[in-house]
Amino acid sequence: MRVLILNGPNLNRLGKREPDAYGTFTLAELEHELEQFAFDHGIELTCSQSNHEGEIIDWLQQAERQDLDGVVLNAGAYTHTSIAIRDAIASINVPVIEVHISNVYKREDFRHHSFIAPVAEGQITGFGKDVYFLGLHALLLRNQRG
Ligand code: DQA
Repeated sequence: MRVLILNGPNLNRLGKREPDAYGTFTLAELEHELEQFAFDHGIELTCSQSNHEGEIIDWLQQAERQDLDGVVLNAGAYTHTSIAIRDAIASINVPVIEVHISNVYKREDFRHHSFIAPVAEGQITGFGKDVYFLGLHALLLRNQRG
């Protein structure tokens, strides 16, 4: 199984950024743990992060060209603003799991709307860094069931 973990804007600042909302782990630590999990579960994993909307769209389109089995996407604030990312997800034949470290529904109203949710396979929000592992589990289960 081949999967892309794709993090959007400001997630390169994990560890320093609003630790009450996002914890104290860094993106490098998270990616290291995800690579370990992937190795243990026979997943070929690529981790990527971009602060740029267009680059996120390029990665999503590439996921389809590479015929990946899934994408675990934390689009950050683009979740709440980007029709272009939503259209990119709708245009590819690859399941995308939307994840958020914080529980967006417990936070400001502007975080309650996701442009991505209607085109994502599912949404996981509010379990800290576990959302990425839960996303990988969801793809593993999906893959096993065929
Ligand atoms: C986030 C939630 C978003 O509202 C926010 O803009 C982020 C991170 C999360 O992981 O909880 O950048 O996606």
